[in-house]
Amino acid sequence: MLMKVRPSSTCAKTGTIALQNLQKSYGGLTAVDDVSLSIPAGEFVSLLGPSGSGKTTTLMMMAGFEAPDSGRILLDEKDITRQPPHRRELGVIFQSYALFPHMTVAENVAYSLRMRSVARAELEERVGRALDQVQLSALASRYPHQMSGGQQQRVAIARALVFDPPVLLLDEPLGALDRKLRHHLRNEIKSLHKEVGKTMVYVTHDQDEALAMSDRIAVMHEGRIRQFSAPQDVYRRPADLFVASFVGEVNLIKASLKSGIAYGPAGERLPAGPWTGVDSDATLCVRPEHLHLKIDGAGTSDGIQGRIVDATFVGDATVFEFRSDAGLQLTSKVLNIAPEAMLGIGVSCVASWGASEATILTE
Ligand SMILES: Nc1ncnc2c1ncn2[C@@H]1O[C@H](COP(=O)(O)OP(=O)(O)O)[C@@H](O)[C@H]1O
Ligand SMILES: [Mg+2]
Repeated sequence: MLMKVRPSSTCAKTGTIALQNLQKSYGGLTAVDDVSLSIPAGEFVSLLGPSGSGKTTTLMMMAGFEAPDSGRILLDEKDITRQPPHRRELGVIFQSYALFPHMTVAENVAYSLRMRSVARAELEERVGRALDQVQLSALASRYPHQMSGGQQQRVAIARALVFDPPVLLLDEPLGALDRKLRHHLRNEIKSLHKEVGKTMVYVTHDQDEALAMSDRIAVMHEGRIRQFSAPQDVYRRPADLFVASFVGEVNLIKASLKSGIAYGPAGERLPAGPWTGVDSDATLCVRPEHLHLKIDGAGTSDGIQGRIVDATFVGDATVFEFRSDAGLQLTSKVLNIAPEAMLGIGVSCVASWGASEATILTE
C-alpha cells in the first residue's frame, strides 16, 4: 500500500527539530532529564526505552501538550517552546486512535480542517489525498467500528497527514495490535516515510521495531538519552551497560584488563578483543551470535574451555548455554544451517569470539 503518494513539494526541506536541555518533573519525579536531540529534516528517529523512561513526556513536549520546566524546542530554528499545539504544525498519532465513533472515516480526517474553516473544494482535495496516502480511499464512508485496528490506525495517520505537516510524531502507534499486524504496519509506516519524506519521531519500547524502522535511535532510560546513533551502532557499539542489555541479547563478562589481555572473573585468560592499551576493570560485551563454539581439538587456541549445559531450539537457530571450566556461563546462538547447531548437552567445546566482535564497556 501507500504507493500513490504525490511527490513532495520542491521547496527547501522543512522539519528540522532541536530539543535543547529539556527538563520536566512531576512533583518530585524527574520524567525527562536534560534531553537534547538534533533531528535533521526528513529523518526517521525512534525514542526507544522501557516503560516510564520519559518517551511520551518528551514527545508531548514536542507536540505542545506538556510544557517543559526548562529547555527549548526549535522547529526549523524557530523557538516553539511556548506555542500552543495547534500552532506547531506537527501531526500527532497516539496508540489509541481516538477517532470520533459517530463520524465516517472521511469526516474524521476532515474534522480539523473543518474546524479551521477550510473551503469545501480544498477540504475534499486534501482529505482525498490523505486517504490515498494510507490507501483507505475505498473505505471513506465507513465508520470506525466497521474497521480493523490496523485500518483505524491508518485513519489516525491520514488525519495527521491532512495538514501536510513537516513532522509526524507517533506514540507507540502499533502498541494495540497483534504481532503479525504490527509487522505489516511497521513496513507501511516505513514506506510512507520514504515517500512523503517527512521527519518522523516514533516512540516505542520495542527494540526490534526501532532497529528495523529508524535512521537513528535515541535510547532512553530514566528520563535521559543514553545513546543517539544509527541502529547498527546502537547494536554493535552500545554506549553503556544499559543500552547493551536493553537492545538485543548480550553476554556481559566482568573482566580485568592487563597489558592488552582480558582475564575473566576466575582469573582465566579470555580471547583477544579491541582492548589493547586498556588497563582496568571492564565489562566485555559479546552478542550470542558472536560467541562461536568449536568441538575440542578443532584448532582454536584462543578460546575458553568448557561444555554445553543447555540447548534450546528457537526455530531458525539453537541457543546454547555454555559453562567454562572456570565457571563462566555464556550464551551462544547458532543458526541451524551451521554444523555447530548439532552440538548436544554435555559436549565439551571451546568458546571464542573474533577480536573485533567484542566490545568493551569501562565503568
Ligand atoms: N501527568 C503525569 N503526572 C505524573 N507523573 C507522570 C505524568 N506523566 C508521566 N509521568 C511519569 O513520568 C515518567 C515518564 O513517563 P512517560 O514519559 O509516560 O514514560 P514512557 O512513555 O517512556 O513510558 C513516569 O515515571 C511516569 O509515571
Ligand atoms: Mg509512553
